[in-house]
Amino acid sequence: MDFTAFAQSRKSTRGFQNKAIPKDVVDDIINTAKWAPSSYNTQTWYVHAVAGEVLAKIREGNTKNTMAGKPHVRDFPYKEDYEGEHRRRQIDVAIQLFESMGIERDDKEKRMDWMLRGFRQFDAPVSLVLTYDKSLEPAAITHFGLGSLAYGIVLAAWERGIGCVMICIAMGYPDDNFPANDVRSVRTDNADFVSYQGF
Ligand SMILES: Cc1cc2nc3c(=O)[nH]c(=O)nc-3n(C[C@H](O)[C@H](O)[C@H](O)COP(=O)(O)O)c2cc1C
Repeated sequence: MDFTAFAQSRKSTRGFQNKAIPKDVVDDIINTAKWAPSSYNTQTWYVHAVAGEVLAKIREGNTKNTMAGKPHVRDFPYKEDYEGEHRRRQIDVAIQLFESMGIERDDKEKRMDWMLRGFRQFDAPVSLVLTYDKSLEPAAITHFGLGSLAYGIVLAAWERGIGCVMICIAMGYPDDNFPANDVRSVRTDNADFVSYQGF
């Protein structure tokens, strides 16, 4: 497959087979992704790959805290609420996902279940947490670099038949019977967000 078709074939995976990913496969994915560009080649990133009991413990803690209504603590500030066309797109993909899973608008129980799955990173067997040194703050340039690494990871995984969803980066072998895995999110036209100058 050429790169264009390959990149367009990738989509988020939210249902995973109960199958571990060997450490050398994860390492190979990171080995590929680290060729991502970074500002002045500073490579200001750390990858914490988590699986097994350690990941199970993190999940347990997240679920407990969420159920107890504990507010989420963010390591860096960001605007929580999207507006305008951004909000519209956020709603559009949520509708696609809920429809695929048969979750009705007013079905509080199923919506809660979906939210908790999200906090459990959809029970993926591996989670990659990308971090950087606090001394780099304010870290907009570093966020840019981590974004390029993250996409490199997702593509390198996809090439190996491994799906991801970017909550941290949850990854695993896709469960082909999980309805939300069929969701093909839409993209806006280039004309809506690309400006060409000097052509
Ligand atoms: C920074 C970031 C955070 C995300 N957080 C979530 C999330 O919390 N829950 C979720 O289901 N998907 C999450 N996603 C996946 C997006 O919903 C998904 O990439 C988007 O809808 C486009 O769909 P696609 O990846 O299938 O092309 C996140 C993606 C990114 C890049």
